[in-house]
Amino acid sequence: FQLTTLAMVFVSAIRTSLSKPQVASQRFSSGGSRGLKILAILYRGGDAAKQEPRLLGTVENELGLRSWLESQGHEYIVSDDKEGPNSVFQKQIQDADILITTPFHPGYVTPEVFNKAKNLKVCVTAGVGSDHINLNTAIDKKVQVLEVTGSNVTSVAEHVVMNMLLLVRNFVPAHEMIERGDWDVSQVARNAFDLEGKVIGTIGAGRIGHRVLQRVLPFNPKELVYYDYNPLPEEAAKAVGARRIDTVEELVSQCDVVTVNCPLHEGTRGLINADLLKKFKPGAWLVNTARGAICDKFAVADALKSGQLRGYAGDVWDVQPAPKDHPWRAMKNPLGGGNGMVPHYSGTTLDAQQRYAAGTKSILEKYFQGKEQEPANVIVGIGKWATKAYGQR
Ligand code: NAI
Repeated sequence: FQLTTLAMVFVSAIRTSLSKPQVASQRFSSGGSRGLKILAILYRGGDAAKQEPRLLGTVENELGLRSWLESQGHEYIVSDDKEGPNSVFQKQIQDADILITTPFHPGYVTPEVFNKAKNLKVCVTAGVGSDHINLNTAIDKKVQVLEVTGSNVTSVAEHVVMNMLLLVRNFVPAHEMIERGDWDVSQVARNAFDLEGKVIGTIGAGRIGHRVLQRVLPFNPKELVYYDYNPLPEEAAKAVGARRIDTVEELVSQCDVVTVNCPLHEGTRGLINADLLKKFKPGAWLVNTARGAICDKFAVADALKSGQLRGYAGDVWDVQPAPKDHPWRAMKNPLGGGNGMVPHYSGTTLDAQQRYAAGTKSILEKYFQGKEQEPANVIVGIGKWATKAYGQR
């Protein structure tokens, strides 16, 4: 009887591994002989995380995964300590099987880190945007990169619309005036406009870019335009009435408001630099919730100071947490406003955290069971690109 049972288990294991060769862990299944080492780099939540358990993406609340992972015999290490050779990240990655990290406080997986990470098989992004991982090296090293696609795209799109409104309507200086105890309507109204009647364009029209277009349509813009080498599906473009523009230079020269909604990759790093900023309409507003490094930080600060940009807003910075002397913290336009910067939180609302924590669990569950991942969640498969969103290749 025992031999028959063993044979059945063996046949079923072979069947599973043959049908799902892309995603099955070669060294582990739920009945495997050893647990895996899973390292999570998350941001520290402090008192807020102790008081608010829905802050799932924090070191304190650990994506809600600890008891589930440990009950299956896995080791789960969670830390926010990620910089320098003696950090928990750099030490523990050396024998970790799985890395989980969020774009809000990313463990940067450089080629050097990959060289150290001898057991690493999977990087999971708890959220959207996996540029903190050197994706070309992940391909070379046959490490899969998975993310919870779609988990926070509505959260970001809402933030983009809010950013457009607060810049165009000159909200921040108006509010600061009230806190100071002052009251000078002309001083804020002299740089306040309506979103209605403006040309609004997005660089990148994927999940977030498309949602932004949908959400600004009811404001009656003069026109909606987009630049993306992957065109919107015809129906979707028709529904929002968005015109596709062939080059990014053309797009910025036609827009009053530009929003950046593409991933950071070789083709977008430093895309918005001094040269491109000169091609913007004078006095345009720029919103970037995609990634800080898509913009040249000094060129943006200069363009705001000169008035070439009337405003810049977003939540993403080149290197996070942003250093205290980052020029975007205090930059202003000539009238003392135009800065809508906040820490990276647009995609980490409590609603979004619930979705990306659940999505992370589902990705791990599939991995442990050798099941196929949701195709949209796979950024890099074993040894190959699985998405068309990280540049034309
Ligand atoms: P997506 O994959 O659905 O869409 C990205 C689009 O950008 C694709 O259509 C792609 O073709 C396009 N694209 C790529 N390179 C381009 C280029 N050079 N020029 C124009 N278009 C280009 O991704 P999704 O979900 O819309 O997210 C976009 C980015 O937003 C993420 O990669 C991430 O960096 C950022 N993000 C930021 C968050 C935050 O909290 N601030 C949260 C979630 C995402």
